Amino acid sequence: MNSVLVIGSGGREHAIVKCLLNSDKVDKAYCLPGNAGIAQIAETAPIGAMEFDKIVEFCKAHDDISLVVVAPDDPLSAGLVDVLEENGIRAFGPNKAAAIIEGSKAFSKDLMKKYDIPTAGYEVFTDYDKAVEYVKGAEYPLVVKASGLALGKGVIICESVNDAVDALDGIMLDKRFGEAGNTVVVEEFLVGKEVSILTFTDGKVVVPMVSSQDHKRVFDHDKGLNTGGMGAFAPSQAYTDEIAKEVEKKILIPTMNAMNSEGRPFKGVLYFGLMMTKSGVKVLEYNARFGDPETQAVLPLIDCDLYEVMNAIIDQRLSEVEVKFQNKSAVCVVMASGGYPESYPKGLEIKIGQIEDAYVYHAGTAIKDGKLVTNGGRVLGVSAVGEDIEDARVKAYKAVENISFDGVHFRRDIGKNL
Ligand code: AMP
Ligand code: GLY
Repeated sequence: MNSVLVIGSGGREHAIVKCLLNSDKVDKAYCLPGNAGIAQIAETAPIGAMEFDKIVEFCKAHDDISLVVVAPDDPLSAGLVDVLEENGIRAFGPNKAAAIIEGSKAFSKDLMKKYDIPTAGYEVFTDYDKAVEYVKGAEYPLVVKASGLALGKGVIICESVNDAVDALDGIMLDKRFGEAGNTVVVEEFLVGKEVSILTFTDGKVVVPMVSSQDHKRVFDHDKGLNTGGMGAFAPSQAYTDEIAKEVEKKILIPTMNAMNSEGRPFKGVLYFGLMMTKSGVKVLEYNARFGDPETQAVLPLIDCDLYEVMNAIIDQRLSEVEVKFQNKSAVCVVMASGGYPESYPKGLEIKIGQIEDAYVYHAGTAIKDGKLVTNGGRVLGVSAVGEDIEDARVKAYKAVENISFDGVHFRRDIGKNL
């Protein structure tokens, strides 16, 4: 028996588990801690992603596990892959030294500057007074970012000096994002279409997956607060083959090489958040992992064995494996709790009717008294594959109509206005 273990509990992890189970070589999946939907296809246990000792113990107690996939940013940045490897457990994901590319925006900005990788102009500050002085003389809009991990919420777009000083107060003085705000990055505001390029890399080659786009704002027509992502679609219509070639040459390969030169070879999924500006494509951010919810639109299109790809990356023989995607489209609509991304209730019963031509990935769900209930801000991600985006969109929304819980909120324009 050959099993895999996936660390994490969201829609992304549900998609990774499902995709790994498609492999002929994988008989069974475990997921820690998982959620109610993942529990339908994998064995789950209440061990958190940051409980490294318990995860190691779990692996040692299950000798059928041949591969551990670390999906979320926190355990990657804290070095779970290193800890697993030290214990002789085969793990997929960047080690701590490489995961810094996401864990520190100050590091990633300096890396891009040093290796001429196009990105927004910026300054880094650890001193509050110096940061305030700088924003008083800057042009607006301006972007203020906590350097560390802040659940995607540590980025504040400022229209005026007042906004920027408020942002600095919140991040540096009030520590709204804790230690993540000890260092701030103040950045030029970029205008353009955003695209997410998830890539597989073993440090020798970098292979892009199908392009995708995330819808970050909570309401239709990109109104309201930023969220972790309200939906995604793949491929991005704006990301042409020509742009892809330029990005590979100016961004993907230089980034892989830069990490090697820094003595931090990156093995895993490297995510490039890109902005297509009038003066060329620029990097907004790097993530050291699969994106959420992009993964729920990208992995349904994969046309090769993910287990094999991950193993090839660990052994640095990715060039020997053919990474392929179907020539189709996918759309994922996130169903969120009312109130998200601010406060929201939990424990509300979810009713899922007949689902055809779509797959329901669980993000924040649990079982309470035998019933499926909400247990997070983003509750479900409903994904469908179609001949084109419109076909996938229609299928996904048809499935969404058959799902309900009190206060449910979802955008109606996912995959529209491409
Ligand atoms: P990040 O976590 O750095 O990707 O930022 C989150 C979101 O904020 C991005 O997906 C963009 O929508 C927005 N953002 C970040 N940096 C900039 C920038 N320099 N200019 C415009 N928008 C930005
Ligand atoms: N969807 C953006 C992220 O995963 O950070």
